[in-house]
Amino acid sequence: MEMKCVLVFLLLTTTSVLCDLITDEEAAKQFADDVNIKAEEVNFRYVSAAWTYNTNITQENQEAMVAESLRLAEFDQEVAHNASAFFWTNFTDTNLRRIFSRLVDIGTAAMPDTEKLERLNHIQSEMRTIYSTGEVCLSESECLPLDPDLTRLFAESRDYDRLLAAWQGWRDVSGKKMKDLYEEFVALSNEAILANGYEDTGAYWRSWYDTPTFEEDLVDLFETLKPLYVNLHAYTRKKLRELYGADKFPSTGQIPAHLLGNMWAQTWNNLYDVLEPYQNKDSIDVTPEMIRQNFTAIKMFEVSDEFFESLGMIKMPDSFWNYSMLSKPDDRDVVCHASAWDFYNRQDFRVKQCTEITMEDLITVHHEMGHIEYFLQYKDQPVVYRGGANPGFHEAVGDVISLSVQTPEHLEKIGLIQNVTNDNEADINFLMRMALQKIAFLPFGYLIDQWRWSVFSGETPKDKYNEKWWDLRCKYQGVSPPVTRTEEDFDPAAKFHIPNNTPYIRYFVSFVIQFQFHRALCNASEQSGPLHHCDIYRNQLAGTKLSDMLKLGSSLPWPEAMMMVSGEDKMNGTALMEYFQPLTEWLQEQNGNDIGWEDACPKPDTKDPSSSNMNVISLPLFMAAVLYSLLKIRN
Ligand SMILES: *[C@@H]1O[C@H](CO)[C@@H](O)[C@H](O)[C@H]1NC(C)=O
Ligand SMILES: *[C@@H]1O[C@H](CO)[C@@H](O)[C@H](O)[C@H]1NC(C)=O
Ligand SMILES: *[C@@H]1O[C@H](CO)[C@@H](O)[C@H](O)[C@H]1NC(C)=O
Ligand SMILES: *[C@@H]1O[C@H](CO)[C@@H](O)[C@H](O)[C@H]1NC(C)=O
Ligand SMILES: *[C@@H]1O[C@H](CO)[C@@H](O)[C@H](O)[C@H]1NC(C)=O
Ligand SMILES: *[C@@H]1O[C@H](CO)[C@@H](O)[C@H](O)[C@H]1NC(C)=O
Ligand SMILES: *[C@@H]1O[C@H](CO)[C@@H](O)[C@H](O)[C@H]1NC(C)=O
Ligand SMILES: *[C@@H]1O[C@H](CO)[C@@H](O)[C@H](O)[C@H]1NC(C)=O
Ligand SMILES: [Zn+2]
Repeated sequence: MEMKCVLVFLLLTTTSVLCDLITDEEAAKQFADDVNIKAEEVNFRYVSAAWTYNTNITQENQEAMVAESLRLAEFDQEVAHNASAFFWTNFTDTNLRRIFSRLVDIGTAAMPDTEKLERLNHIQSEMRTIYSTGEVCLSESECLPLDPDLTRLFAESRDYDRLLAAWQGWRDVSGKKMKDLYEEFVALSNEAILANGYEDTGAYWRSWYDTPTFEEDLVDLFETLKPLYVNLHAYTRKKLRELYGADKFPSTGQIPAHLLGNMWAQTWNNLYDVLEPYQNKDSIDVTPEMIRQNFTAIKMFEVSDEFFESLGMIKMPDSFWNYSMLSKPDDRDVVCHASAWDFYNRQDFRVKQCTEITMEDLITVHHEMGHIEYFLQYKDQPVVYRGGANPGFHEAVGDVISLSVQTPEHLEKIGLIQNVTNDNEADINFLMRMALQKIAFLPFGYLIDQWRWSVFSGETPKDKYNEKWWDLRCKYQGVSPPVTRTEEDFDPAAKFHIPNNTPYIRYFVSFVIQFQFHRALCNASEQSGPLHHCDIYRNQLAGTKLSDMLKLGSSLPWPEAMMMVSGEDKMNGTALMEYFQPLTEWLQEQNGNDIGWEDACPKPDTKDPSSSNMNVISLPLFMAAVLYSLLKIRN
């Protein structure tokens, strides 16, 4: 690379420093191209090793993965170092400037001290090990892992005490064991990020959205959408009080956090049987029909692939079908949490999912396929642009598709229901089912990173970790701890994304913008009926619009990408509100004035309610992983 000091001298400013920087944009382009070829290779090696480990957990496979992850970090450091030899901030080519800004922005790989970088990786794998190997013993003969047993227990049990034992037991074997590790992790992560020029890790994560008003925008959005949640909450609370007895509920108005059909109360679809508005209507749960038709995991992915194809989008390549892991194998240990994988060689794209034959998993299949479709669409972009326009976009693609797939009209088209009834009562039932997925999730999606950002910034120190967590849970979600919590507990880390260190606000963003995309694509396909009846199946106009945006990857600022699909350049809650409008009205009628809860958590009981003598153990199974940042993981 040649040095063109001449140019710099002419400018007569800070010459001595600038003289060392390379201003030649041709040389810079050459450099970026070279880096891209190498990056494909280094990423491919790392992803391959991570895949091998995730689909076959052994000591040997773990060591191979750790080695590749350190190589990748080393490579990122070297690239950032070499890139900073260029005077890229003054390049005239906007795109080249954007590429360089990505090359120098390397996250925790910026850690100057290698030993500390290794320690950071080590802590993260230790936390994942604790999370992945925890088992709750409800009796001497009944020890349950999270997947699938505790998850199923929360879905099916309506036994207050059994749920409570499982809820508390899980937190004892997961979060509670990680508090010291997490504090150390926060300090190291911040130190690494500081070397990148950000205030703290939270600030770094928010920088991906490239929106100066991001935090305020989120507050506004949340406030706009809150009435929908408050109404769903009030109706659910009333039904659960009938089921469990009002004496089990605090006077402050929150719902005990273990009664919502999910370990974290994050989605409530498993309560549908309790909450169904009109009981005499046909069910729109297609699980029994899928089983009757002998559906397989492969069949579920074929259904999804066919939908994308019907829009004129890209079909899954052979390698997807040959190498994905679509069912849980029984000859080895695997990481079951569903995820989508880009191998960075422009050929190999895979899903790893322990698919069960249920409607819920059919939706997850579409979610993961959405990630793969994005990978396929942007595969010819440089590696630094192979990502969502922002992280929320990546999470939204498959969900947009499944908004169409879940309509009764569509389920009839693909033969999963017969004789769709189309009246107001059927609509309300359908929207209730959707609300338990989409509305129930909003405060949860919102608060996780509110907590994490305040921890990263130092606002919430270690001796307030759990208190802050429950402040947010009580205030935003309106759920309360069913047993006394103290700073001995560490409840945030009982949720996968905290030990796995996956940022979470992306899911909140996705749940808002997927309705904007849905509305825009419905408009493009010239459907003018209510949004919750729209199905974009086989509509190539909608498909083209979506593809055009996905092809961009992250090469343009996200508002420009959003503009291409929706003509909007902001996150906006009105599409979501429009979709649920009939249900919102119905809920308001049901609830009257019996809505809302106090901000503060209920005062803890003076007596100790945790009287169950559970014998809780954690199996010292071996398991760990590093640098999951490349993967797309289910919420
Ligand atoms: C799992 O990995 C081990 C290496 O640690 C290997 O020997 C074994 O064949 C692998 N099993 C499968 C099913 O790939
Ligand atoms: C960085 O620069 C050094 C010295 O010129 C070179 O040896 C190395 O290959 C470069 N690395 C990358 C990833 O560009
Ligand atoms: C770099 O660009 C900035 C902003 O456009 C300008 O103010 C500055 O003079 C430029 N510096 C050099 C050395 O070109
Ligand atoms: C499902 O499989 C069973 C057993 O193999 C068979 O008897 C039945 O006909 C199949 N049903 C359908 C709808 O294919
Ligand atoms: C996938 O498997 C089929 C059948 O075994 C084979 O013909 C094809 O070459 C494979 N394709 C890839 C990309 O591995
Ligand atoms: C669907 O409707 C038709 C005609 O009304 C009826 O003959 C058939 O039994 C119905 N099927 C189901 C599964 O309800
Ligand atoms: C699509 O949006 C345009 C502009 O807002 C509007 O004029 C048109 O009526 C919409 N089309 C449908 C089918 O809703
Ligand atoms: C959201 O979109 C609606 C129209 O759909 C518009 O009236 C409103 O101003 C937008 N809100 C924001 C905050 O941009
Ligand atoms: Zn995802």
